[in-house]
Amino acid sequence: MFKTLDREKLDTELRKYLDPAWQKNLSILLFDRIPSTNQIVWDNLEQGENNLLVAIASEQTAGRGQWGRSWQSEQGGLYLSLGLPMEIALQQGSHITLWSAWGIAKSLRQQGIAVYLKWPNDLILEKKKLGGIKTETKVYQEKIIQSVIGIGINGSNPVPSTGINLETFLNQKKKLSVFSLETLAAITLQGLFLGHQCYQKEGIDSILSGYLEYFINLGQTVLIENCPGMITGITTQGELKVRLKSPGATTEIILPLGSIQLGYGQ
Ligand code: BTN
Repeated sequence: MFKTLDREKLDTELRKYLDPAWQKNLSILLFDRIPSTNQIVWDNLEQGENNLLVAIASEQTAGRGQWGRSWQSEQGGLYLSLGLPMEIALQQGSHITLWSAWGIAKSLRQQGIAVYLKWPNDLILEKKKLGGIKTETKVYQEKIIQSVIGIGINGSNPVPSTGINLETFLNQKKKLSVFSLETLAAITLQGLFLGHQCYQKEGIDSILSGYLEYFINLGQTVLIENCPGMITGITTQGELKVRLKSPGATTEIILPLGSIQLGYGQ
């Protein structure tokens, strides 16, 4: 079911799932085996490609994960990157991952797959990691002028014990026949479209209120320097809000991206 990608089938699925506003503007490159779809998008942008550019690979040999980690990318998973030109302030860089995560979760939910979000970039299904997002940016004069948004979603590829793939999930739900890598790619791109459109029209506040609805860590207890705290939300800069409780006092603290590793659910 989840193997390699077929161009004709992908086009059919894009016509079914993707908003026409993006359908006509996307250039899509398909690869069997490359180091990283994020890297191939950067390479093409350097050579003058300036359309909305998507690269999808059946397998990656040097997939990049968040915080400098590598992303295991065996056959069966979706490895997709979107090159998106933009002009936003450097301080708003976290917005790209937030709207992408929200949009993809929303799009998968529209297909009956109840995806949650783990701050800031993880897609969670049944309290396990279904996928992740790795956003890379190019900065010029304090502004982000180009982003490459890389998405990895477990299709039928092997996953560690903290992970889940869609094949296992859909088999349990007896729904596998309706899904393929091409469908997953089209639904993911539609999610990116939804997130981008909502961010452009309504701004980060609207994205955050949507993100919080799917936010698996909301209300979770964390220990900060031995002091228990409760996760209460996310700031407009994408940082984590935590309410610390010590006898007789309550303080709200803000944790920057990457400063704490959260769990998959209470
Ligand atoms: C994470 O660490 O959770 C984010 C993983 C993102 C992996 C994807 S796979 C497609 C794209 N190309 C890469 O090299 N990385 C991203």
